[in-house]
Parts: sequence; C-alpha cells; structure tokens
Amino acid sequence: MYVLGTVVASLVCFLLLKWTKKRRFCLDTKRLHGKTVLITGGHCGIGKETAIGLAVRGARVIIACRDAGKAEEAVREIRRASCSMNVQHMELDLANLQSIRDFSEALLKREKRLDVLINNAGMPCVLDWTDDGFSMCFGFNHLGHFLLTNLLLGRLKESAPSRVISLTSSMYKYQKLDFQDLNYNIVPFFTYCRSKLANIYFTQELARMMEGKGVTAYSVHPGFVHSNWTSHFSTVFRMILWLVMVLFSVPCEAAAQTVIHCAVADEVLQHNGKFFFDCQPAKLHPFAEDEGAAKKLWEASERMVNLT
Ligand SMILES: NC(=O)c1ccc[n+]([C@@H]2O[C@H](COP(=O)([O-])OP(=O)(O)OC[C@H]3O[C@@H](n4cnc5c(N)ncnc54)[C@H](OP(=O)(O)O)[C@@H]3O)[C@@H](O)[C@H]2O)c1
Repeated sequence: MYVLGTVVASLVCFLLLKWTKKRRFCLDTKRLHGKTVLITGGHCGIGKETAIGLAVRGARVIIACRDAGKAEEAVREIRRASCSMNVQHMELDLANLQSIRDFSEALLKREKRLDVLINNAGMPCVLDWTDDGFSMCFGFNHLGHFLLTNLLLGRLKESAPSRVISLTSSMYKYQKLDFQDLNYNIVPFFTYCRSKLANIYFTQELARMMEGKGVTAYSVHPGFVHSNWTSHFSTVFRMILWLVMVLFSVPCEAAAQTVIHCAVADEVLQHNGKFFFDCQPAKLHPFAEDEGAAKKLWEASERMVNLT
C-alpha cells in the first residue's frame, strides 16, 4: 500500500511539474520577406507548425513531401493559418537517392535563393530498407538529408548568410556509431538512436566546413511530441503510445519553436554547430562531440551516396 501510494504521489508530482512548466516560445518577430525556406516533410507534425511559424514571418516556404495529395492539403492549411500565399510544395522521397537528386535539380532551377534548409522529415524506430538498400533510419534520417544538403550547399552559400537546421533527438545518447556497420538494422530503437546521433555529427562537421562561408548549422531536439510518428506502429502499440503521449508529450506548435528560433534569431549565430533544445543551446554527452567521429561519418557518407 505504502509503495503504491509513493508511486502514485510521484506520478502526480511529475505530471504537475510537466503541466506547469511552460516550454519557451520563439519571441523573435523578425520579418523574413525575400527569404526562402525549405522544410522536408512539412505536411504534418513539427514540420507543418514550423512552416506556419516561418510563413507568418513573411518567408517563402517550400515543403518537400513524398505524397502530393497530402502536401497540397497542407499547403492550403499553412496558407490559411499564416495568411500568406507564399507557400509551395515539391515532391521528394528521402528514402530514394535518385528522387533527392531529381528534387535538388528541380529546386535549383526554380529557386534563385535558399536561405534556410530545415532537415525535418524523420522515420521513427522501424526496421525497413530504403530503395538503395540502406537501413531506413540511417539511410533516410541521415544519408537522405546528407545528400540533399550537399546538393543544395552551393545555393545556400550564394544566399549567405544562410542556415541548415536538422531535427535530431535526445535519444542519440543511447547508442554510439559502429563504423564497421553503419547500416545496422537489428533493434529498431537503436537504429533510430544511431541515425539521430548521425544528425548531430553531420551538423557539427557541416558547421566546421562552412566556417567563414556564411552558412551556419544547428541540430534541434524538439522534445517528446504529439505528432504523427506513431502511425508507423501496430494498432495496439499505437494505443499505448497515445496514452503516454497524452500524459507526457508537448504539442507540435510548442515543439516547432526551437526550430523557428534557430531559423530566425541572431543570437544563435554565436553557437554554430550546436545542439538546441527549448530555444537555447543544450549540453551534449562528450561522445557526441567527437570531432574525429563526425569527420569519419562525413567521409563514409560521401562514399555511401556517391558524392564526389
Ligand atoms: N515526435 C517526437 O517526439 C520527436 C522527438 C524527437 C525528434 N523528433 C524528430 O522530429 C522530426 C519531425 O518529427 P515529427 O514528430 O513531426 O514526425 P511526423 O509527424 O511523423 O512527420 C514526419 C514527416 O516525415 C515525412 N516522411 C516520412 N518518410 C519520408 C520520405 N521517405 N521522404 C520524405 N518525407 C518523409 C512524413 O511524411 P509522410 O506522411 O509521407 O510519411 C512526415 O511529413 C523527425 O526528424 C523526428 O525524428 C521527433
């Protein structure tokens, strides 16, 4: 009885703390007229809220999605919510390297500027393979965005000062990269953690390489968020997750604030390459700041996507 009482009391205290502690909102109201922002997977979840937040500030927003129907509907919603007609969509499948190359070519032909690239789309813990034979989490979450960013880097440099923001997760800390087996695809949760650590290394190396070239990079942990990510799981697991989310998650609008902050605020410029949470730089485990590992991952990724 005593143990049960303690557990219930602890849970109540935890929930009270969670519900009373407010997440920071991005209060920077800088206008983004004339700026172009590209958001991968911006038709739902955190990406859609980010799109609204940036369109409200006057940016031209392009969401890159694999399903044209869902994207069209999202464009209508984002336009309505932001009172801006300057919102477009383009087709992109990040689990297919050819689709990324075709998309980049089309975007470069169409858009003369690219001021902010937001690598938002992500696959949660699933055991699947991309069209090119990479494990879904590593191949899509990391390699897809790695190739996309590299193909668009020239335009980002021409539009300098520009920014690259990559969505990662605090789950990075539960795994290290195995350079003998980057394509690891055994325990779903671990594949996700590794891909999110790769997002952090990628951001750090990109920031180092672009030093003095006008392109800065940031990685963002959005928190535990009530979005669409559970749609990849079975109905029973989804129901359990739904309950956990109702109790512990934050809404997408709150989660998007740190991404928006990194896209607009001047104060982030002094934290190039850093990891952000709740609209401020956050500490990483020392192994996630390993320069050697970041460089090694960059070189391995170049080989894997045939980037010369
Ligand atoms: N939610 C959380 O608690 C949480 C926590 C930490 C980090 N994050 C990270 O935050 C980011 C956004 O997550 P979210 O919660 O907003 O997830 P979400 O609601 O599931 O949205 C994911 C987006 O990625 C798109 N996507 C999936 N496969 C794709 C592909 N092959 N090509 C292009 N786009 C594809 C989805 O489009 P479709 O509808 O077509 O699949 C969707 O637009 C992810 O990188 C995630 O890892 C989320």
